[in-house]
Amino acid sequence: MMKKATMLAACILLLTQGGALAHGGEMHGKKHRDTRMDKLHRIMPMYAEAQTKINGALEKGDATTVEAEAGEMAGTIPDLKKAKPHKNLKKIDTFKKIADDFGSKVTATVALAKKGDIAGAKTAFKKAEEKCNECHATFRD
Ligand code: HEC
Repeated sequence: MMKKATMLAACILLLTQGGALAHGGEMHGKKHRDTRMDKLHRIMPMYAEAQTKINGALEKGDATTVEAEAGEMAGTIPDLKKAKPHKNLKKIDTFKKIADDFGSKVTATVALAKKGDIAGAKTAFKKAEEKCNECHATFRD
């Protein structure tokens, strides 16, 4: 049986090596070891793309595109809520709360677009975008 001190040393070794690996992976753009961080890197570029399409469609009064694109965003909310930011990890409850609020605004956008209410969808999506910014202010590097 291993002594406590040996076990502790082994744990510390694992922790520091794990950290170094994760960090190295990031620096060199290799595969991330932490899937919860990975999630954000998959979700966010999709958000940026969808955001452009939604705003374009809102301008044109194209409710169908708004509904489809905001619908895609809405589908990622469960993953967003489970994701883990690099920065301010100790405020994870705030992260989840913002993710939740963001989800409500996106869902509202989908529902309003579905009814053909472009003005309403526009207002709802503006509020969703405020949540993008609110979350980035605290959690984005
Ligand atoms: C609940 C928090 C949260 C919300 C809401 C959020 N983001 Fe992010 N976003 C982040 C974090 C955290 C990062 C930094 C990624 C990291 O730490 O790996 C980020 C990064 C990004 C990036 C940079 C790409 C990347 O992978 O780093 C883009 C672009 C982006 N977000 C767009 C958006 C848009 C557009 C919205 C809203 C439609 C949005 N985000 C909503 C937390 C959020």
